[in-house]
Amino acid sequence: MEITILGIESSCDDTSAAIIRNGVLLSNVIATQEIHLSYGGVVPELASRAHQLNIVPTVHQAIKNANISIGAISAIAYTRGPGLMGSLLVGTSFAKGLSLSLGVPLIDVNHLKAHVLVHFIRDNSPNFKEPTFPFLCLLVSGGNSQIILVKSHSDMQIVGQTIDDAAGEAFDKCAKILGGPYPGGPYVDGLAQQGDANAFSFNKPRVDGYLYSFSGIKTSFLYLVRDEMKTNPAFIEQRKADLCASFQRAVVEILMEKLLKAATDYKISTIALAGGVSANSGLRKAVENYANMHNWTTFVPKLAFTTDNAAMIAITGMYKYMANDFSDISLTPFAKTIV
Ligand code: KG4
Repeated sequence: MEITILGIESSCDDTSAAIIRNGVLLSNVIATQEIHLSYGGVVPELASRAHQLNIVPTVHQAIKNANISIGAISAIAYTRGPGLMGSLLVGTSFAKGLSLSLGVPLIDVNHLKAHVLVHFIRDNSPNFKEPTFPFLCLLVSGGNSQIILVKSHSDMQIVGQTIDDAAGEAFDKCAKILGGPYPGGPYVDGLAQQGDANAFSFNKPRVDGYLYSFSGIKTSFLYLVRDEMKTNPAFIEQRKADLCASFQRAVVEILMEKLLKAATDYKISTIALAGGVSANSGLRKAVENYANMHNWTTFVPKLAFTTDNAAMIAITGMYKYMANDFSDISLTPFAKTIV
């Protein structure tokens, strides 16, 4: 039997639609909202308005790129949350309307679980490999830093998470202090590759177990720059690359130390990365090094799947479809994480 899922993602500032057939990605269209660039962050009201404009052409393009007819869709999967409420409402309402008009089932998807399942999106490559259960996934984005124990496509347990800021927020803040753009991760990453990662050191957070904390390192970076600027106003200009490299090394070390602890304690050697920060070159290198040292089998997502995309919503929808796990039209979106 052929299962063709239309996935719709609208949790933040990317409107995306994708088609997956029997696990193979046929199309993945992302309309990125440039409007937020000049505000230094996502403006929720502007995001929902842009979703309204983008949703019809984005879904249309995804169906066209997949070269299927709209009647071939078996079910519609959409992001129910977490995310910005106004943004979620656009995707949710569109998905409900389309499912009613096509007479196909509706599937609600948790955005965070979907990030984890990117590793199951197939292409037609003969070398495609997916993680075996159980595995640990380090999910690092602008809103979350979590270590997730993945027992099946649907059964996931958060074993560790941040008690304050997310890793992506720390990168964004670092860029902001240096006068860089938003989002700041790619900017810091780019400069870090030209700098000395041992030039500056920052205090590591002391939090128990598998918990993370990034607010301290953010503040310690701010104070270092502020103090140096008092005696040398050109400090940022002169040491930008070294600052980024040192900051990135510290954040990556924090992430990897807890991931290693969880892998050791849970005796799990299949490790995956997911979320926007998983695009970070320092984190990718560290995971490769740890894999060699600790005999891990690792799964690092393609760059296109690190940020928000509907392909991950569609693949999650496919597994829920196979489990007959459909959702009622009366379900409402949720802004905050609910497990
Ligand atoms: O998953 P994502 O696209 O959105 C959500 O937060 O849901 O993640 C965005 C975050 C931002 O904080 C951005 O600065 C960070 O991912 N990011 C990176 C890199 N690319 C994106 N952080 C570090 N290095 C990167 N190369």
